[in-house]
Amino acid sequence: MTLQGRSFIEPPDFTVEETDEVFRLAKRIMAAPGDYAERAKGRLLATLFYEPSTRTRFSFEAAMLKLGGQVIGFSGENSSSAAKGESISDTVKTVACYADIAVIRHPKEGSARVAAAAAGIPVINGGDGGHQHPTQTLTDLMTIMTEKGRLGDLKVGLCGDLKFGRTVHSLVRALCRYEGIEFILISPEELRAPDYVKADIGRGRCGAYREAERMQDVLSELDILYMTRVQKERFFNEEDYIRLKDSYILDAEKMRLAPEDMIVMHPLPRVNEIAPEVDADPRAVYFKQVENGMYARMALILALLGEE
Ligand code: NCD
Repeated sequence: MTLQGRSFIEPPDFTVEETDEVFRLAKRIMAAPGDYAERAKGRLLATLFYEPSTRTRFSFEAAMLKLGGQVIGFSGENSSSAAKGESISDTVKTVACYADIAVIRHPKEGSARVAAAAAGIPVINGGDGGHQHPTQTLTDLMTIMTEKGRLGDLKVGLCGDLKFGRTVHSLVRALCRYEGIEFILISPEELRAPDYVKADIGRGRCGAYREAERMQDVLSELDILYMTRVQKERFFNEEDYIRLKDSYILDAEKMRLAPEDMIVMHPLPRVNEIAPEVDADPRAVYFKQVENGMYARMALILALLGEE
């Protein structure tokens, strides 16, 4: 693999072939985790989380520990020198003196790219504001491949907060590179996907999208329904959030409108957008996504460290 020493800030930083390599490695690790238990021995991962996280931070930490490596980091900007006014570049240059690889999550769009330019070690974007979240996308693509057996010829409904949802922006950017993907963008008027995301679809190999406001109108057509949370922390006023937060609630009754082989995905955390009764439906794969995520991150860490 040629990924050694590189950073991963948005999905197109890796070609489709390089991304496939990461998946193949993830599958090998999944099949024989014991063979990889010491692969990152003596290596240190730094997790710089300026924003809340459960899955992304823990799955990176678990991934590194399961590879025999070690982890340092902070969670919340008040527990680092950011609270004293230090720039991201300075923080990351400092961290690079201790660690071999770093993951950063930050509320500002573009922050991970800035960190990668300064670091001198591989930097992974764990989410930069409402922009991109490429490791969630690795998780999502791996799940789609496992559950649907292919990454092309799929009708994908993206539902919820398409304006601020970075997991959606990254997923579109990645899926656009495969043949025959058709997107249905399901959102209220105010939470429609930004123009740059729609432009990605136009430039991609798939080329097709349409917008819808009611999930019931399109459910029967979908291969994949990707639900998202309304991103409270990105709203400028509480009133708008309260008005929009329950725009979509997927429940057992709506699931009756969906094909037998459709899958329901969600990056989690969910709030109200999927009723807990849906969890028992075999089409619900959001907790499988969590599991795939750790293996995808193990593979990514090894590839960037050149230890695969
Ligand atoms: C997502 C994120 O942080 O963007 N969470 C995650 O990493 N799985 C989705 C979200 O917060 O809604």
